[in-house]
Amino acid sequence: MTTSEKNNPQNEEPIALELRQVGKVFRSDTGARVKALEDVNLLVHQGEFVTLLGATGCGKTTLLNLIAGLDNVDGGILRLGDGLRFGDNIAHVFQHYTLFPWRTAVSNVSFGLQMRGIPRVERHVRAEALLGKVGLKGFENAYPHELSGGMRQRAAIAQALAIEPKLLLMDEPFGAVDDSTRTELQQMLTDVWQENQTTVLFVTHNIDEAIVLGSRVLVFSERPGRIASEFKIDLPRPRDRMTQEFTQLFIQIRTALSVQLD
Ligand SMILES: Nc1ncnc2c1ncn2[C@@H]1O[C@H](COP(=O)(O)OP(=O)(O)OP(=O)(O)O)[C@@H](O)[C@H]1O
Ligand SMILES: [Mg+2]
Repeated sequence: MTTSEKNNPQNEEPIALELRQVGKVFRSDTGARVKALEDVNLLVHQGEFVTLLGATGCGKTTLLNLIAGLDNVDGGILRLGDGLRFGDNIAHVFQHYTLFPWRTAVSNVSFGLQMRGIPRVERHVRAEALLGKVGLKGFENAYPHELSGGMRQRAAIAQALAIEPKLLLMDEPFGAVDDSTRTELQQMLTDVWQENQTTVLFVTHNIDEAIVLGSRVLVFSERPGRIASEFKIDLPRPRDRMTQEFTQLFIQIRTALSVQLD
């Protein structure tokens, strides 16, 4: 039984994602072996919002890439739930934004809809609405080089949401935005998650963000990364940072992280 099964015995939703003893080894240019992940066990049910915290270089991006099918596991089993397919209903917001430089913001956001054969007018309307949702109203026709780093990241988030994914992989998506925008985007993402019952895996370096968003917080060990501890977050939403429960969780998670950093 995985750690998550032990902590979620009552979750009867279908499984979105299962990893058993997953490992990943890279070979550097000099030929040295870098063990990025070792013995990662994780069970995620549909509709969960799982946030991942861990020191830099512990393998968080590697894990999302494996789940997205961008790289192969070197050991263990990685299984997606029924009906989940990359290129269809899994979206990925990368740590470093990835927009097509030759497309405008609205055309970047509508790209996935174009690939799915949605008529031009409809995809435009949906893309414009999403750009509004992420705070980019008025920048629909801007090219990526005309946007700031944080604005590009918001466009990348709108692009991911456009296909109404069943599984959303997000790698530090709010890393490049200011605090008040971050709070707005956190609320927007929570709303999207609640409306669409998307399963979300969200990497962050920010403990506060992990608690505000997650139904479960996973803390990774240092490389080779594995799940060192996890915290179920039962606080009502929207989450109030000023409560004693929030502060207690914050301290517990910070302690779990600092143990990893010792
Ligand atoms: N393509 C690759 N080739 C060789 N080594 C790699 C490759 N990708 C990642 N690594 C190594 O694997 C380890 C984990 O990297 P990863 O990018 O997954 O970390 P991370 O937890 O996302 O870090 P950060 O918080 O800084 O984004 C690092 O030591 C990194 O150097
Ligand atoms: Mg990373």
